[in-house]
Amino acid sequence: MNYYYLLEFIIYVLLTLCLTYQVMKKSFFSDKKMSIVVSILFSFFLMLLFPLDFFNASISLGVFLILWIFFDLLLKKKIDSRLILGISSIICFTFLGYAYYCKNHVIETHYRIKTDKEIGESSFRIAQISDSHIGFSMSSTRFLKYINKINQAHPDVVVITGDFVDDDTSKKEMEKASYALSKLKTKYGVYYVYGNHDRGYHQYRDFNEEELRKELGKNGVIVLQDEVIQLTDYITLIGREDQRYPRKEIEELVKEVDPDSFQIVLNHQPTDYENESKSNVDLVLSGHTHGGQFFPIGQMSVLLGINDSYKGIKTIQNTTFIVNTGLSDWGFQFKTGTFSEYGIIDITN
Ligand SMILES: [Fe+2]
Repeated sequence: MNYYYLLEFIIYVLLTLCLTYQVMKKSFFSDKKMSIVVSILFSFFLMLLFPLDFFNASISLGVFLILWIFFDLLLKKKIDSRLILGISSIICFTFLGYAYYCKNHVIETHYRIKTDKEIGESSFRIAQISDSHIGFSMSSTRFLKYINKINQAHPDVVVITGDFVDDDTSKKEMEKASYALSKLKTKYGVYYVYGNHDRGYHQYRDFNEEELRKELGKNGVIVLQDEVIQLTDYITLIGREDQRYPRKEIEELVKEVDPDSFQIVLNHQPTDYENESKSNVDLVLSGHTHGGQFFPIGQMSVLLGINDSYKGIKTIQNTTFIVNTGLSDWGFQFKTGTFSEYGIIDITN
């Protein structure tokens, strides 16, 4: 029994009941049975409007109900209740339509980071890919399109900061997306750290971690699990294990690293800023948050101390932190307050 889907279904039914209550309260139809039928049909219509599952349909229905109740309280004495319903519907569909566009529109985000450290050349370019969740929220065909775009930026190195695949990724999709990574053209290679979803939460996937690792390796991608590699004479790359699993502290990982080298840390979840900053690493690249996904999840996750940041760039003492909003998203078909992205980061003197 998959309790997650059961929970989705219960939420959706509860929201449908709320909608029915709202329809009946407004007495749009003299017949109560008619109100119930119309509400249920309307709920299914919402679900069909986007290629939605119950999860996203619940979000749509929830947003619609919040808006309807809000405008009802605000305007009920001033305008007709049918007009309130119309206003709420238009605002809801505009908002969700834009959020759907934001999730599916991938932008190239540029950052320039200045350093006093010797980097061997005038500029060193990193391309960051994160949270593609292949086969779940992005197809391997679409993924290849962004690989071609990244090549046009001529990166020196490409880093993948986790959640490349998901529980619902098929082996075929994983293989196709791994093959797409072999098309990347770089001077120093393609490096990857696991996210919380890459090795799956459940056991129903038709490939295991070993097969994923093998496929990535076959296509020239190097997986780093609490490993330190000397990328160039001046730049060190530190790939951390995801915090979902037992892992080394950052202090331990940097112990043997030359303090004069420019140190880049890959850490899927943006959650260890204090220790990473104390360890004096220069740059930390993360993903995981999908740019906050849907308001106010990102803001709440920082307020509650679940994440240290949910998007963009932040500096703490000598360390710069960047959180990528992800090439795609997790189960959400919507993103608010941000677009999907891949990052181009230039390190210069
Ligand atoms: Fe994640």
